[in-house]
Amino acid sequence: METSALPRHIGFIMDGNGRWAKKRAMPRNFGHKQGADVFKKTINWCRELGVQAATFYAFSTENWKRPKDEVNGIIGLLRQYIKDIRAMSRENVRFVFIGDLSAFDEDIRADLLDIMETSKENAGFTAGVALNYGGRAEITNCAAALSRKCLSGEITPDMITEELFERELYTRDFPPLDLVIRPSGEQRLSNFLIWQAAYAEFVFLDVLWPDFKKKDLEYALKEFAGRSRRFGGV
Ligand code: IPE
Ligand code: IPE
Ligand code: MG
Repeated sequence: METSALPRHIGFIMDGNGRWAKKRAMPRNFGHKQGADVFKKTINWCRELGVQAATFYAFSTENWKRPKDEVNGIIGLLRQYIKDIRAMSRENVRFVFIGDLSAFDEDIRADLLDIMETSKENAGFTAGVALNYGGRAEITNCAAALSRKCLSGEITPDMITEELFERELYTRDFPPLDLVIRPSGEQRLSNFLIWQAAYAEFVFLDVLWPDFKKKDLEYALKEFAGRSRRFGGV
């Protein structure tokens, strides 16, 4: 049995913003704004509690299906938040944006790439932010990348192992995903880190993401510490 007190990498599915706003008779984008504030706080709570890395699901490949004004609102919020993210990156946080960034406007993309580049040596905390991210798209891209390497002669198909495959994932520099936390009451992955979550522990919470507090994170960490992880063994 393997037990380790603290998860090395937490995935946060930041869900419930819309319902939070609806409860207050406010537009959904008001909920997204509150959710973005909680994202910033959660990075600090993780650091205070000794967690080294977390990935936050901010926008999925499926979220483009939403009404145009909501999608535009989320992208507008991202544009506004870039300076906060840059400020956090100056506090020794490494930011890694995962997902297909080519879907975003050039100014956003340039800022995100610049923050990734300038923060890449920061060792205080690693924050992944999933933007236009889908787990199936990620795995498909890995298959395509490895196929190209086979065609170019760099590798042969029999060299493809799980380890080689993982080196093509966006999370190649992250520690293993130990815990996924999903607030909002939904109990599903919604295409988030599906490869990486193969042996993760799950904590589902009834709180809506804009109401997520440090005590909720502490509860999830306590839950995690009490789980018995067997990885198929005994
Ligand atoms: C999560 O909150 C944020 C994004 C998907 C961008 P939702 O917007 O999904 O909130 P609910 O689930 O509708 O309450
Ligand atoms: C998952 O939430 C995506 C993000 C939190 C960014 P959704 O609200 O999109 O997931 P479903 O539709 O409930 O599965
Ligand atoms: Mg949702």
